[in-house]
Amino acid sequence: MVNLTINGKKIKAAKGSTLLQVARSNDIMIPTLCSADALEPYGACRVCVVEIKINKNSSLETSCTYEVSEGMDIQTDSPAVIKARKYVLELLLARCPNVKAVQQLAAQYGVEKPGDHLSVENEYCILCGLCVRACNEVVKAGAISFFGNGKKKAVGSPFGLGAEDCIGCGTCAFVCPTGIIKVRDFENATDNIPAGELQIGPERVIENWDRNLKLKECKHSGSPYAPEFMLEKFKKTMPLTPQFFDIAPSYREYPEVDEERCVGCGACLDECPVGAIRLKVKDGTKDEVRSNIMKTHCCGCRTCTIYCVRSAIQVPAIA
Ligand code: FES
Repeated sequence: MVNLTINGKKIKAAKGSTLLQVARSNDIMIPTLCSADALEPYGACRVCVVEIKINKNSSLETSCTYEVSEGMDIQTDSPAVIKARKYVLELLLARCPNVKAVQQLAAQYGVEKPGDHLSVENEYCILCGLCVRACNEVVKAGAISFFGNGKKKAVGSPFGLGAEDCIGCGTCAFVCPTGIIKVRDFENATDNIPAGELQIGPERVIENWDRNLKLKECKHSGSPYAPEFMLEKFKKTMPLTPQFFDIAPSYREYPEVDEERCVGCGACLDECPVGAIRLKVKDGTKDEVRSNIMKTHCCGCRTCTIYCVRSAIQVPAIA
């Protein structure tokens, strides 16, 4: 543990934590635009800047990337911090005047006019890199990346052609703070070819990456639910039967815990890829714990059933 001070408050923090993590866990709010818990810190937007004093030296640093150390004295809203954030927001407003997340933060800091430096007209991408990092680090598809430099820097698919590695999961759109990435599903897509109109059927389109993916229809409901390309990838990497992917998540049977067999060892918790399992006190007892699967978080992958040595987690058969 290390001892530090944030805004005059004495705090003990775990070594290796970032300033942003420590501030948030102590209810000290620092604005961010390019940070997400599931991703490695990146330090692109710079709105999370704070002032750090160590041994009479002071500097402005991005709190999302800076690790805590013994004796640090941090100010999250000093005049120098506010000035730096305002400058960053002026730049962001100059680039992206119509992005709500930028507008809101700018208004909060009293920034009314965009800076006249480096103006790029009416962009919607703030170059935070969240989409690129999520695609690489979480989805592990690596379908998009940064290209170009300076004013011409942008995010896109390789060579501006269709992103062939994009699985159409939509994670990029989910993490984008500006809403510029659009994922659209069409029930009856068509295309114009020289011979006339081509019927494509259910299709997902991500225009930003020039990606069109055929959607698979759920065997239970008949409704399109996920790109076939994505499901084929999952079939190869997940320990599940091919039939599992025939059914949309809302119609799947999910694992259930038999409280009499479960001993609360927690092996399933450690292995659950989406953190959907917690321990809870067994019904009718005070201190005996059992695994509890949160249906709202469970992805239905059944990894827990593999790691339960007592076969206490079972999945009802898919109808
Ligand atoms: S949140 Fe720290 S630089 Fe963007």
